[in-house]
Amino acid sequence: MAEPSPLLTVRNLGVAFRTPRGPVRAVDSLSFDVPHGRTLGIVGESGSGKSVTSLAVMGLHTGAEVTGSVALEGRELVGLSEPELNRLRGRRMAMIFQDPLSSLHPYYTVGEQIAEHHRVHFGSRRSAARARAIEALAEVGIPEPKRRAGEHPHQFSGGMRQRVMIAMALVCEPDLLIADEPTTALDVTVQAQILDLLARLQQERRLSIVMITHDLGVVARVAHEVLVMYGGRAAEQAPVDALFATPAHPYTRGLLDSLPRLDDPDDVPLRAIPGTPPSLLEPAPGCAFAPRCARAAAGTAGERERCATERPAPGGPEDHTAACHFASFPATAAHEGTAT
Ligand SMILES: Nc1ncnc2c1ncn2[C@@H]1O[C@H](COP(=O)(O)OP(=O)(O)OP(=O)(O)O)[C@@H](O)[C@H]1O
Ligand SMILES: [Mg+2]
Repeated sequence: MAEPSPLLTVRNLGVAFRTPRGPVRAVDSLSFDVPHGRTLGIVGESGSGKSVTSLAVMGLHTGAEVTGSVALEGRELVGLSEPELNRLRGRRMAMIFQDPLSSLHPYYTVGEQIAEHHRVHFGSRRSAARARAIEALAEVGIPEPKRRAGEHPHQFSGGMRQRVMIAMALVCEPDLLIADEPTTALDVTVQAQILDLLARLQQERRLSIVMITHDLGVVARVAHEVLVMYGGRAAEQAPVDALFATPAHPYTRGLLDSLPRLDDPDDVPLRAIPGTPPSLLEPAPGCAFAPRCARAAAGTAGERERCATERPAPGGPEDHTAACHFASFPATAAHEGTAT
């Protein structure tokens, strides 16, 4: 049987902001797919363009120049009018924002807020919307949902509030859920519960999920495919097992090296990659990672010159690609990037 076409297809996405110091290219030449019922993990350091990418998919950038294509089941979203996008947001795609308190209103009860969301998108009656809101709170594992629907956001713990956000995002049964760092502020036990909840909901509803995180542990736990971003571009894309087993891009290898080791808790925790992320105001002509790259530093003068002046395009075997002149793929002698 032929592979079904992906739910979400992003091609050559660019997002630029006009600033007093010049245009900021926050996302550039980015392409990825999210198949039905699968999770794409997007990972990268702070400022790598993860949130800007997700907001672009949702059509939430005002004042930014968005180029390229974002298609939901073949329907182009870039350039749609605000009312058209509004119809899709909620019912076809929903987002959990990085900071839950900023998307919950402090003065309304959580039940009212979830019900309002349902009413706006389905034109449902108040009583039906309220019943649906209580159902949604139950589905995300909030005990005594009827009573808790009458409470305000500040009466919920961080983990429970994140469940409320998930209930709000899923009350209209979207096909695509974008979750931007949904567990960053939570302790590890609660984080694991929230990730398990998302996995269960995904199975039950064949939900497609984009999981944005700077935490490779989260990616390992939930993602099927992974997109590693650096400086607004794709550094590496691969199925999750391949990414962890045979990372091809020096940046990915750096991120993996900075993971704390589970087998040796006394090992130095979190070795950050030295150096700072690139300037998006004046992008260097070559590889954005070159100034911090161990592979470039260890290369010959000619190789270093190439990294500094020639921007690498993503390439590699089949579904594993890396944007590095010297990407190291296993057993691909024919590929240019076997130099490491
Ligand atoms: N409205 C804006 N105007 C100008 N620059 C912006 C705007 N929004 C984002 N940026 C810039 O775009 C870049 C990418 O930001 P983004 O929020 O996507 O990073 P991120 O990967 O989500 O980081 P974090 O892990 O900290 O959430 C940053 O350099 C940021 O300063
Ligand atoms: Mg972000």
